[in-house]
Amino acid sequence: MKTDHAPSSVRALTVHAPRAPLSGSVHVPGDKSISHRSLMFAALARGTTHITGLLEGEDVMRTADAMRALGADITREGAGQWRVQGCGLDGLREPADVLDMGNSGTAARLLSGILASHGFTSVMTGDASLRGRPMKRVTDPLAATGATFLSRQGGRLPLAIAGNANPPPLAYRLPVASAQVKSAVLLAGLNAVGETRVEEPVATRDHTENMLRHFGAQVRVEPMGAGGRVITLQGRPDLVARDIVVPGDPSSAAFVLVAALLVPGSTVTVRGVGLNPLRTGLFTSLREMGAELAISNERVEGGEPVGDLTATAGALHGVDVPATRAPSMIDEYPVLAVAAAHATGQSRFRGLEELRVKESDRLAATVALLEANGIRVDVVGDDMIVHGTGGAIPGGGLVATRMDHRLAMSAIVMGLAARKPVSVDDTAFIDTSFPGFVALMNSIGAGLAA
Ligand code: S3P
Repeated sequence: MKTDHAPSSVRALTVHAPRAPLSGSVHVPGDKSISHRSLMFAALARGTTHITGLLEGEDVMRTADAMRALGADITREGAGQWRVQGCGLDGLREPADVLDMGNSGTAARLLSGILASHGFTSVMTGDASLRGRPMKRVTDPLAATGATFLSRQGGRLPLAIAGNANPPPLAYRLPVASAQVKSAVLLAGLNAVGETRVEEPVATRDHTENMLRHFGAQVRVEPMGAGGRVITLQGRPDLVARDIVVPGDPSSAAFVLVAALLVPGSTVTVRGVGLNPLRTGLFTSLREMGAELAISNERVEGGEPVGDLTATAGALHGVDVPATRAPSMIDEYPVLAVAAAHATGQSRFRGLEELRVKESDRLAATVALLEANGIRVDVVGDDMIVHGTGGAIPGGGLVATRMDHRLAMSAIVMGLAARKPVSVDDTAFIDTSFPGFVALMNSIGAGLAA
C-alpha cells in the first residue's frame, strides 16, 4: 500500500520573468470537480457512460481506481475519453484492499457519503497532506446514516467505514460552506428511502445537484435567506448512464489568465472554460481590480455554461473581496493574492477560514509565498490584507509548496511577474490537477526550464 507517495519525484523549479509577452490560445484540462463526480455517478448508474474531456490528473485517477475497486468497469479509450460501465445504485461491492485517495479531499469526502450507505466495510487513506485534513466534517453528519466510522484522532485518515445499506434520509444544515460536505450528505441519500435535505447558508458549487439530475435523480433547489439554498434529493432514484462533456477547469484557467494579466504586453485566450456562476468569483474580483478579461463564444456544453476567456495585461488596483464570494473562488485565493501583490494599493480578502483546511493551510502558505518574495501581508482574523507593489514584485524567494498544487502554480505565476527569480521547492504536485502545466505555459512563452 502506498501512503506517502508524491505524484512523482520532487521537481524543483526556478522561475524567471519572460523576456517577451505571453501570447497564444490554449485549452486547460477538464474540471476537477466535475471529473470526480463523472466517474462516481457513472459507477452508480445502470449502463455505460462515455465521458469526454475527463481530467487525467492524479486526483481523478485515484477516484477511477477507487470506483474500479468498488466494482465499476472503467476504461480509458483515448485522451480524455473514458467509458464507465456502472454497477447500478446499491450495486457496489466491498473493496479487496484499502482505497488510497492520494492528495484528493474531494475524492475522500464524496466517497465517504457513498460508502456510508453501502452494506460493507471499507478503509480509505491518502498521502500525508490528505491524512492531515479534517474528515469529521463529513463523518459527523454521515453518522446519522447508521454507518460506523473509525478514524485516527481528530477524524483523520485512515478511516474505516462500516456502511448501512438501509440508511434513513438525512436532514442537515451545513455549518461550513463546503460543497464536499453537501455532496457527501446528498450521496448518502441516494440509497435512503425518502427525502434527503441539505441547507446551505451560502451557495457552494452545485455540480453534484446538476449532475445527479443529469443521471435521472430528482433534485430540488430552492433559495434560502440571503444567498443560501435548500437542496432536496428524492432517495433511491433510477440512475441511468448519461454521456458527459467535462468543461475546462476555471480553477486551472485561473493561473494562465493571471499570468497573462501580469506579464506586460501579454494577451492569452483560454478556450472552453467552465463558467458556472458558483465558480467564477475570481473573474469578478479580477475585473473589479481593473483587469481586461473578455468572454467570447459563450455556450452551454454538457449542461454547463462555457466560454473562451481572453486576458490582456494591464495595470491592476487593489480590491476588497467580500466573504460571501469565498465559496465561488475558494481555490483561487493564492493566485488572486499574487495579482494583488502586483496591483497598486491594498487588497483585502475577507472570510478565509476554509483556506486553513485545504491541501495545505493555504492561508498560512499564501502569506509565506508572498512574504518570501518581498510582499507585505497582514492577517486580521480570517481576512488577508495584501499590500500591492504597483507592478514591482521584488521576488527572489524560495517557496515551500507543502504538497499543494495550487501553491506551486501560484508561485510560478509570481516568478513570471517578479523582478528577481522565484524558486519553487517542488512542482510535482501540479500533476494532481493540471498535468502539462509547465509545457502549456511554455507554449505561450513562459520559458520555464523543463
Ligand atoms: C470541491 C469543493 C471545494 C474545493 C475543492 C473541490 C468539490 O472544497 O476547494 O477543490 O469538488 O466539491 P470544499 O467543499 O471543502 O470547500
